[in-house]
Amino acid sequence: MSISRFHMPIRFIIGQGSFAQLGREAARLGKTALLVTGSCSMRSTGMLEKASGELAANGITAVVFDKVEPNPRTSTIDAAAKIARDNKADIIIGLGGGSVMDASKCIALAAAGGEPIFSYCQGKANGKIKALAIVAIPTVAASGSEANNGAVITNWETHEKVVLTHPSIYPAISIVDPTLTLTVPARTTAQGGVDIFCHLVEAYVTAHESTLINDSLREASMRTVVETLPEVLDRLDDIEGRSKLTWASTIACSQFSSLGGGTGLMTLHGLEHALSAIYDMAHGDGLAALLIEWMKFTLPARRERIEKLGQNVFGASDGIVATQNWLHKVGMDRRLRALGVKEADFEALADNALRTAPWVKFHPVPLDTSSIIGIYKKSY
Ligand code: NZQ
Ligand code: ZN
Repeated sequence: MSISRFHMPIRFIIGQGSFAQLGREAARLGKTALLVTGSCSMRSTGMLEKASGELAANGITAVVFDKVEPNPRTSTIDAAAKIARDNKADIIIGLGGGSVMDASKCIALAAAGGEPIFSYCQGKANGKIKALAIVAIPTVAASGSEANNGAVITNWETHEKVVLTHPSIYPAISIVDPTLTLTVPARTTAQGGVDIFCHLVEAYVTAHESTLINDSLREASMRTVVETLPEVLDRLDDIEGRSKLTWASTIACSQFSSLGGGTGLMTLHGLEHALSAIYDMAHGDGLAALLIEWMKFTLPARRERIEKLGQNVFGASDGIVATQNWLHKVGMDRRLRALGVKEADFEALADNALRTAPWVKFHPVPLDTSSIIGIYKKSY
């Protein structure tokens, strides 16, 4: 078994109602918080007001920044970092989905270092900087950003969506309260479910070594998503179902799912980030559109893994057909054409993917410009 690292310096507070502990927990970290959200859902669902009340009741001054867009942009992050510095914030609280949590991690780094966040992505900034304390509060079961030190951000000027990892942007505290996801609409719920499934299936299929612990953890988590997502889409207020999806989301994009080796690669993600960078599409939609052709492309080199997926996750002989049927069942059969992608852009998309996600070159069947264009074409 190859050597792998497990480092997760995050204090998790997990469970229905754990959101009420925000004030007490944040008070461990500082006195002035930048409370980061998207532009509408936290206000419309009352969660922003609740968070502000919790913080005030525990003596924390909160400055609200409610301008994070889906597929968070570097320009937004830098603007928020300036506000954090001007207010001498010592805590950055991300209350929202993956876009908000990722933006918050980066705001914490940019505010501490005083340099534009994209300079960290280019390796030009001082890497020794220690980000401000981060509190992550996921309100969508999808990214698992509450459980890692990664952030996926977009430089909209250059249309580059990149993964930034930094040793100091683990959340100090992650409050994972499934009740916060009860207001997520069906389409976003389904997009999130596909994202969780892809976090698990990509590494499961590309893993160069399989280990019982790691495979079982991923298979159980995939089964949870496959079985639970249709139930939640039928009944959006199904708190037990929402709890299962939230837990799978936290596990799927954390080192829990690579503990014990058999890490695998996130190469489908690399192809999708190019789509979001150029078309600003929802991450889960881009993944759903590419997943089947990515599996077919990988089959020659990972037949046995894809058969194992079929048997152990779907109880079916053909893992690709079973996945396709599931996508249909949850209303996530997506085609690039319907998502607004232009055929004339395929080459630019492929170059973008190779530039911003260089790890795709190590896919079990090497991905290059022509093979990536082939996957985009067949997903059109
Ligand atoms: O914009 P607001 O008002 O916040 O509304 C959001 C947004 O429109 C809304 N929403 C969030 N919580 C809600 C809610 N609506 C009702 N009730 C609630 N409780 O949902 C919409 C989508 O939010 P977003 O954060 O964009 O979705 P998601 O959580 O799927 O995150 C997607 C982002 O995560 C990144 C993706 O690249 C994408 O930018 N990822 C981050 C990863 C990580 N850090 O580990 C890994 C993932 O693979 C992923 O790439
Ligand atoms: Zn993802």
